[in-house]
Amino acid sequence: MSGVDRRTFLIATAAVAGTSVGTANAAVPVFEHGVASGDPLPDGVLLWTRVVTSSPVEWEVSGDAEFTKIARRGRVSTGAHRDYTVKVEVHGLRPGTRYWYRFRADGVVSPVGRTKTAPVDCSAARFGVVSCSNWMAGHFVPYGYLADRSDLDAVIHLGDYIYPHYQPVVRDAVPPHELITLQDYRTRHALYKTDPHLQRLHAAHPMIATWDDNESADNSSALGAIGHDPATEGPWAVRLAAATQAYFEWMPIREGLIFRRLRYGSLLDLTMLDLRSHRTPETIMGVRQRDWLARGICDGTARWRLIGTSVMFSPLAIPPNPLFPSKNVDQWDGFPADREFVVRALERAGEKNAVFLTGDIHSSWAVDALGVATEYITTSVTSDNFDEFLKVPPRTGSLALEAAIMAHNPHVKFVELDSHGVSVLEVTPEEVRMDWFYTSDRANPDATMHKAHSWRTRYDTARVEPVLF
Ligand SMILES: [Fe+2]
Repeated sequence: MSGVDRRTFLIATAAVAGTSVGTANAAVPVFEHGVASGDPLPDGVLLWTRVVTSSPVEWEVSGDAEFTKIARRGRVSTGAHRDYTVKVEVHGLRPGTRYWYRFRADGVVSPVGRTKTAPVDCSAARFGVVSCSNWMAGHFVPYGYLADRSDLDAVIHLGDYIYPHYQPVVRDAVPPHELITLQDYRTRHALYKTDPHLQRLHAAHPMIATWDDNESADNSSALGAIGHDPATEGPWAVRLAAATQAYFEWMPIREGLIFRRLRYGSLLDLTMLDLRSHRTPETIMGVRQRDWLARGICDGTARWRLIGTSVMFSPLAIPPNPLFPSKNVDQWDGFPADREFVVRALERAGEKNAVFLTGDIHSSWAVDALGVATEYITTSVTSDNFDEFLKVPPRTGSLALEAAIMAHNPHVKFVELDSHGVSVLEVTPEEVRMDWFYTSDRANPDATMHKAHSWRTRYDTARVEPVLF
């Protein structure tokens, strides 16, 4: 929490305490779930908070942290129908500019958030890249690391923001069972938004999120999920609708289609894919999203084309082993026709500067993607990775498998199967660079973070290469 955030929070807390004196039964709104922003545009951004009140909620956006340069302000209402979450679509802001925002309800002021609009043009951009944050598996120290960085334009979340199970390992969670109903999903989202590191992350940077399977159920699609049993858990469509409603209520994301494209001037465009909602046995994207992606590749003029995909795009031959099948058909390997369609679209456009940003598999990778692109995979913030899956100490069982993966997949230039953390992606006209930052111990709330690996793609090469640091 920055000094400004802390000060404002204390003011808000004092206001709550003060108002409570003599009115013990009066419901006083508090902003216990923090504030957030998302999906920056050149002229605006989406703001989010939650406050239980029947009064109008005022919001203001300022060019300074002291709120002396108010740029926009307004009022919105909320209510039980949307679990008292608040979303504000702000326009009329300047491009590529930092802003501060806050809310007020019944005289109580929220913590202050900081955000940044997308630029019309820029010579560099820097993004946090994250995925797979399982509350029960550890502390979100890696999120806190990104919150402390003042040089990020936004944080790209590639999915598994929440997990629907109840398997406490490091931290307990509510509700204490698998999420099924709307109230279940709301309760789990609310729990996440009380985490101090995640609150700081949301208050520090706008988030650009897509979802993967665990926002609803394990290995989900529109048709069902491996993690869902209709016999005991009811119709899948009802559960998916509940998960979807809670996600849109609680995430700083515009409502509607999750696949979308954001632009950072002529430097890059960022395409976020939704690989769950339109998935069938034949297609991972669905016809509409597939054609939209191809049109974007064909019409795009930005120097770099970042593509956020929740699951791995490149082919992966899994070496013979007693634990895993030879292919992970939950990722693009299960949908070769869709992948071929994307590769052909890139080839037709003569596009060699697509960079896939991927989550899902709880490990770190740098990959040459079929000669037309590169792929960087960020590891999990806390979710189990290989050593925890095998229940062995880090760097014991995994070294041999990493070597075997590289031997079986010459296009995989780097893989690390054991560490948790976050990544930072820096984009300039000359190169895209991905740095991985690892936590010393997911179970330790005071863990430290360190830079562990750095890889880059130079313009027009479609190749990854290591960076010495
Ligand atoms: Fe995950």
